[in-house]
Amino acid sequence: MQQWIDICALDDIRPLGSRVVDRGPHVAVALFRSGEGKVFALLDQCPHKRGPLSQGLVVGEQVACPLHNWHIGLENGCATAPDEGCTPRFSVRLDGGRVYLDQDELKNYALHPKWQVEPEKYVTQFVLYPAI
Ligand code: FES
Repeated sequence: MQQWIDICALDDIRPLGSRVVDRGPHVAVALFRSGEGKVFALLDQCPHKRGPLSQGLVVGEQVACPLHNWHIGLENGCATAPDEGCTPRFSVRLDGGRVYLDQDELKNYALHPKWQVEPEKYVTQFVLYPAI
């Protein structure tokens, strides 16, 4: 059964904007909001050369990576053809104007290899930034 963590208010993410959920030593999770108010969560790392997707431009339901302009689908985390590759996506729940992420996914998905042995030891809190 999923355990949801309250991350922020929907209004904390501006339309066509993004925020970052810090995971300590692990690669952060980027939250994106579409113009229609849908929210998506991807590992904040481009499948090409690890560009910070949270700093990209949201267009429709894609984000353009700031490094080499690959377009990554927000729904599936995959690059649009002819580019290839996917970045991990995280489940998002919207409820009552709040944004929730799955606790288990935050603690276990796409961890930095250096820290995979004892993830519980290092993932102690989630910090949303930039500060509101
Ligand atoms: S790192 Fe994202 S397009 Fe190259």
